[in-house]
Amino acid sequence: MRRLLIDTDTASDDAVALVMALQEPTVSVDAITVVAGNVPLPQAVQNALYTVELCSSGVPVFAGRSAPLMRRLQTAEVVHGKDGMGDIGLPLSGRTSAGNSAVDVIIDTIMGSPGEVTLVTLGPLTNVAIALLREPAIAESVAHCFVMGGAGSGPGNVTPLAEFNFWCDPEAARTVVRSGMPLTHIGWDISVASATFDPDEAAALRTCGPLGEYSVNIQAVLDIYAKEASGIPGFDLPDPIAMAVAIDPSIATTARRHVDVLIGDGADRGKDVIDWHGVADQDPNVDVVTHVPREAFVGMLHRLLAE
Ligand code: RIB
Ligand code: CA
Repeated sequence: MRRLLIDTDTASDDAVALVMALQEPTVSVDAITVVAGNVPLPQAVQNALYTVELCSSGVPVFAGRSAPLMRRLQTAEVVHGKDGMGDIGLPLSGRTSAGNSAVDVIIDTIMGSPGEVTLVTLGPLTNVAIALLREPAIAESVAHCFVMGGAGSGPGNVTPLAEFNFWCDPEAARTVVRSGMPLTHIGWDISVASATFDPDEAAALRTCGPLGEYSVNIQAVLDIYAKEASGIPGFDLPDPIAMAVAIDPSIATTARRHVDVLIGDGADRGKDVIDWHGVADQDPNVDVVTHVPREAFVGMLHRLLAE
């Protein structure tokens, strides 16, 4: 079984990605580490704990950083809801995490089993960046790192150029892409291309059973935001399609390119700069996902939600 370590700013799409990992029989989840992003840290922790409980899992959840490396936290309740989970009245409080040592857990898990642990990041990269700054050797010890972040070949979703995870903490994103870690980049372009759900496609997801109902119901706010702000036919699931690539990398087409992240305060804050044509004299450092067939993602999602 492949071992996964998942870092998340648990809101409505993250939660579906967590369900996928917890339901997938070919992977085991060592731990879930939580970072502030979509919602403040305490809420993200509760959302992760609720989702783990819903899946009858004992995977430990650890709290991490409550703010970006060098900037104030700017959350995204307008996108996912005040509770991050569609504001549908779920009981998202009162659960207890395994502690607040997320950064230590990232370091100890990866360093304790060199080459065996795959890191999947679904939120701002604050926890991972601090782990790298404390123990740079995790870049060589991690088996692979799958990052949901960046706009890829398409527009941004929080600014015209930038995607939220990289924009929220651009210094952390730059630290990670420059770390030398074996990285696969799954940008928001892949979600827009292959992970949107119109009402009929959402209805089909509901038919998977209780986890399908949950996965659609918690997108209630995201569905409105997607239609009104992003101009797509219904909610999209960026973290789940990133998790699908992490679970089965063979579903993704990738291109090895040089990638960096801009850290200014202007319109380019958090922009992932991908040297698509190799024009800059910089060695490629990231496997950029350029395509995931929708049917491969949706087929895996239906399989895992129906289990
Ligand atoms: O831009 C999409 C990403 O930002 C997703 O991870 C979503 O959960 C938010 O964190
Ligand atoms: Ca996320």
